Amino acid sequence: MGLVEGKVEEERLFGDVVFPKTLLPSNTGEDLAIAVAKERNRLSEALKEHGAILFRGFDVGSAEDFSRVVEAFGWEEMGYVGATTRVKMANRVFSANEIPLDQSINFHHEMALTKEYPSKIFFYCFEPAPLGGETSIVPSNVIVEKMEEQMLKFMEKVSDIGLIFRITRPKEKIQGSAIDNSWKCLLKTNDVVEAEKRAREKLSCASVMFNDDGTAEFTYGPVNPVRKFGGKKAWFLPILGYSENKKGVDISFGDGSDVPREAISAYKGILEENCVDLKWKKGDILLVDNLSVQHSRRPGKPPRAIYVSICK
Ligand SMILES: [Fe+2]
Repeated sequence: MGLVEGKVEEERLFGDVVFPKTLLPSNTGEDLAIAVAKERNRLSEALKEHGAILFRGFDVGSAEDFSRVVEAFGWEEMGYVGATTRVKMANRVFSANEIPLDQSINFHHEMALTKEYPSKIFFYCFEPAPLGGETSIVPSNVIVEKMEEQMLKFMEKVSDIGLIFRITRPKEKIQGSAIDNSWKCLLKTNDVVEAEKRAREKLSCASVMFNDDGTAEFTYGPVNPVRKFGGKKAWFLPILGYSENKKGVDISFGDGSDVPREAISAYKGILEENCVDLKWKKGDILLVDNLSVQHSRRPGKPPRAIYVSICK
């Protein structure tokens, strides 16, 4: 057998389930792609149980090596929809987004606001940051459970009338901004009519409005941010903006009334108390069940190179 159980210092237990599960090579020189191909079923089961699996200590030295490992799982490829700029590094492999490393990226499920979202996401560490830059993960069912414990009234109201998410995007990239947050980049067109059509096709928004100042306002909901996948609840829709410096996300209850600040701070507190900050080692591959686990990025020092791949 090519894979043996391992352990990382930062892992934790939820009930009696370790998070994430770590797998190491049984012998030096073990080829991860070959080991994965032999144990696909066992790995799928382990992913369902643990939500995240870390493969550490294998000789995965390049985007091409990573691509072979992704292929070995045999899951269908999926393309990206999103305003972050990603560079293709190898077959099925992209650079992670270009948000400057000194900023954090908030917890989210990948592509939660698009109609089709990946069921799995792979991260590969080509180069760990010299300081910080951890990928942090948290079981999404735990967020729901703790919110129900701490904020029951809020959760009942959310389940009754839902939340409305309003995201405003400029037409053009904002000058001096490190990332392109524009609707033009998100929808890959300049044309308002075409943009509206693509938004309706690709995004799960209820409506999109193009304003005279060129901005577009995407409205999602009223919708319950909590979904159920395979019998497990997940806090699927992001109530925090994508990154700390990115404005333009506005939430309210389904009837338009304000969401209490305590609910947002309880949510943030629960994320911080229940997450695992994974300290990357070169060559690590982290496989995450995108339907049961949220991920985020901690600020760090460059250089850092994490590549990603997503599956249907
Ligand atoms: Fe992400």
